Amino acid sequence: MKATSLTPSPLVTFLQRALEGHMDGSAVIYRNLANALRLAIAEGVIGHGALLPSERDLGELVGISRTSVRKAMDSLVDDGVLIRRQGARTAVAERVEKPLSSLTSFTEDMRSRGLEPGMVWLSRETGAASPAETMALNLSVGQQVCRLRRLRTGNGKPMAIESAVIPVSFLPDPYEVTSSLYDVLSLRGCRPARALQRLRAAIANADDARLLGLDIGAPLLVAERRCFANDGRPVEFTQTRYCGERYDFIVELRQADTD
Ligand code: GLP
Repeated sequence: MKATSLTPSPLVTFLQRALEGHMDGSAVIYRNLANALRLAIAEGVIGHGALLPSERDLGELVGISRTSVRKAMDSLVDDGVLIRRQGARTAVAERVEKPLSSLTSFTEDMRSRGLEPGMVWLSRETGAASPAETMALNLSVGQQVCRLRRLRTGNGKPMAIESAVIPVSFLPDPYEVTSSLYDVLSLRGCRPARALQRLRAAIANADDARLLGLDIGAPLLVAERRCFANDGRPVEFTQTRYCGERYDFIVELRQADTD
């Protein structure tokens, strides 16, 4: 093996330690490396979005074959932990961190993380509110709503499937929305001022898996948001099914008052 002049980085030192004593049995070496890489990412030894050393350099530095490094990286790419772009080195996949307490739009969430927001329309229509929509939006029976169903993307990668329901009194025509729903609501003077959001874990069904590029059963985070205008009227009832691997929700906690 050719001697390398590369300086071991904190990642390489971490991997060397993690792999110590686990280098026998070539069939599992790549799995051990994949696990060690996962751990390095989870412990923040290498950050989201950071580039990994090339397969050859990593192999030389941790003392395993380039084939095993490639197999380890391939398995992490398949799991969405790493990303490999044409002609570029492999990087740790980005996670979007979203503070739970701010009432931001998907477009703003993506931009604040340096990702380009995008979307694919799945459907948009106007129709009479269903009983559940009538209740959630505090409507009278038979009132009309706009329904927008979109696949939301960040840098072209699927992030979430979003189904929004808005009373026609706030959005008369679903075709008014060409990118951000909240931009349209702002222009109409009814951007949500307050929201109640319920967050729960779920697993991807066949439809989620196909649209988000995940395996059936992969973890999802589902947010159900009811938003209210300044005058208290419900503006939006939306379910967003976030790809669990790419989205983090952050909650700031403060010490409770003790008196
Ligand atoms: C988030 C919220 C949705 C909201 C959407 C608007 O994803 N969970 O409730 O409808 O943002 O995003 P945009 O203005 O980018 O369409």
